Amino acid sequence: MTTTTAVAEPTGPSDTDTETAGLADLSDLAGFDALDESVRADPAAHRVLTGDRPTGPLHLGHYFGSLRNRVRLQRLGVEMFLVIPDYQVITDRDVADRLAEHTENLVLDYLATGIDADRATVFTHSAVPALNQLLLPFLSLVSVAELHRNPTVKDEIAHSSQAAVNGLMLTYPVHQAADILFCKADLVPVGKDQLPHLEVTRTVARRFNERYPHPDGTTVFPRPRALLDAAPLLLGTDGGKMSKSRGNSIPLAADEDTTARLLKGAKTDTDRRITYDPAGRPEVSNLVLLAALCQDRTPEEVAEEIGDGGAAALKRTVTEAVNEHFRPIRARRAELAADRGHLRDVLRAGSERANAIADATLAEVREVMGSL
Ligand code: TRP
Repeated sequence: MTTTTAVAEPTGPSDTDTETAGLADLSDLAGFDALDESVRADPAAHRVLTGDRPTGPLHLGHYFGSLRNRVRLQRLGVEMFLVIPDYQVITDRDVADRLAEHTENLVLDYLATGIDADRATVFTHSAVPALNQLLLPFLSLVSVAELHRNPTVKDEIAHSSQAAVNGLMLTYPVHQAADILFCKADLVPVGKDQLPHLEVTRTVARRFNERYPHPDGTTVFPRPRALLDAAPLLLGTDGGKMSKSRGNSIPLAADEDTTARLLKGAKTDTDRRITYDPAGRPEVSNLVLLAALCQDRTPEEVAEEIGDGGAAALKRTVTEAVNEHFRPIRARRAELAADRGHLRDVLRAGSERANAIADATLAEVREVMGSL
């Protein structure tokens, strides 16, 4: 299986005001080989920022879609910032449930999967005041109509159980621009659903730079690019999108028995011959794919090997593959979990560093805006 990374260099005449109109044309994703090369040639010239909402445990979809790619970038020598966007939790719910616990669990997942705490900066939104203050000038750079047009926000509003849409829901993509721009990150590894937000970030950066250049003509912000992981999307055990909140995911941290139980309950079909046919047999193919990802083989090979064994054999294979692949990660996670003090130290160090950078960026922003 490849773990190639694609760069979403948003499309066409990207310096126009139509940028936020919609999703970047996915057929136009290009240049990942070039990016891989440029990262390899000079890793220190890049800075990566990404993050995960602290709303529940990370699952296998996160791992294959994003976590392992971050670790790969870090090993190449790229500087890594991981934001735990705690303020984003209250976009579609009234209160943030078990925030501290979810935050600690994210840190555990990061460290267990190979993020190096000595080199990465891990922090929460709420611990970095200057980052949040960037939201104010940034909000002045986007129109209300643009905020309403964001397809990911529209989708979240459609799925929200709240009676009314709150202001943070509409503006959080601009807040996310602050997450990315405070540290002047140039690469943002995300899933496809986040591309509209990255367009907002690029628009904010461009408009800010145009409106407030330094006297010598240089500009404050880079225009970051999305890094899309090319790994195919994993479905949940019900055949829908694997999601923290839909009860259909296999958590990274699940124990082996829980993994077996969850996979046993996964949806399949009655055809005993196991094949890899994502369009025709999405649920069966998804399990084949998961086993293949864990074993670093092609899905066709895995399907061929199971042959006429039916769903039972398929589930046995995938359960073993998952448990074997994640055994060392889970063991490390358990070790780390025994030392909560260490987790707090990682967050404390991360927030200190993020604050120093955010303070410097905010000072620069205030300077070009002419604040006293
Ligand atoms: N919105 C992202 C999500 O729901 C999380 C996030 C917040 C993020 N700030 C970010 C991702 C900045 C990338 C960059 O998954």
